[in-house]
Amino acid sequence: MKIDLRSDTFTKPSPEMLEAIYQAEVGDDVFGEDPSVNELESRMASLFGMEAALFCPTGTMSNQIAIKVHTRPGDEVICEQQAHVYIYEGGGIAFHSGSQVKALPGNRGRITADQVVAAINPDDVHKARTSLVCLENTSNRGGGSCYNWEDILAIKQVCQIHKLSLHLDGARLFNAMTATGQTPKQYGEVFDSISVCFNKGMGCPIGSVLMGSKEFIRQARRVRKVFGGGMRQAGYMAAACVYALDHHIERLKEDHDHAKQLAEALSKKDFIGNILPVETNLVIFEVKGRFTASTLSDTLRHYDVHCLPISPTQIRFVTHLGVNSDMIKRVIRLINDL
Ligand SMILES: Cc1ncc(COP(=O)(O)O)c(C=O)c1O
Repeated sequence: MKIDLRSDTFTKPSPEMLEAIYQAEVGDDVFGEDPSVNELESRMASLFGMEAALFCPTGTMSNQIAIKVHTRPGDEVICEQQAHVYIYEGGGIAFHSGSQVKALPGNRGRITADQVVAAINPDDVHKARTSLVCLENTSNRGGGSCYNWEDILAIKQVCQIHKLSLHLDGARLFNAMTATGQTPKQYGEVFDSISVCFNKGMGCPIGSVLMGSKEFIRQARRVRKVFGGGMRQAGYMAAACVYALDHHIERLKEDHDHAKQLAEALSKKDFIGNILPVETNLVIFEVKGRFTASTLSDTLRHYDVHCLPISPTQIRFVTHLGVNSDMIKRVIRLINDL
């Protein structure tokens, strides 16, 4: 039995999701005529109380489209120093938007309003124009950490005072809302744009939805075409996302419980150092003593348990709908026996 804890991107569609894909009504989405894409976009916009939405193939594309629309070349984007938009999107902010980044050291991926204030450039010809703040919730490199709602509101206030746009990389936003209890509408009221992934904990093969005002999405749709992301019968993929909205949100709590159980088992072992607090479906932990990250991962792989060394001393486990309770029990037994 293969147990894949490397990433929640390894999920495969269930037979029910495949049936929804098979039954999807489709059309040419570049002409705006794909009913399944239109349904997904309007459901997401109304769920978040935002004016409009755009279906994109990946989270990277929806983030980069948002950054492109919010900035002009020569601008500066404020984000945390381990933000996905900055370290894992191939230098996309420079490549697509011609903007530079002011990367702030955060607390497990999260920055504060005070840090943002201090990072805003003055109106000075020598300085790049600060135009956008990007937050990530949950934070991937922060080990699935969630923002406190008050901290988000404080950052929003700073953005309003200084006329900065505020974008949310919500690749795992449904995980964050499951853990903290905020609603999609609360997020929709605060952020100028939000990207949400369906190809991670939501269990779909493809897809991310970008949301914002009508005017923002009008421009985003144009940028998506320029980036080569105008898809035709994309409704087959959108139908999977609609299925996930109906069936895969409530179960996320199970993934979070599984992550906590894994962390609990790890915490008892002498070869495990610091474990980042587990808030959602990611467990990032330090390996020491008898193992390095790579020897522990090799040992687990020998038993068909797959995980991701993310540095010479750190491993990441990710729980998701492809890992059930029996599999978690098996991994825990294996950890106990090491
Ligand atoms: C926080 C975060 N943002 C964006 C992305 C990008 O998503 P995609 O792989 O669909 O491009 C990821 C992917 O892991 C992510 O973890």
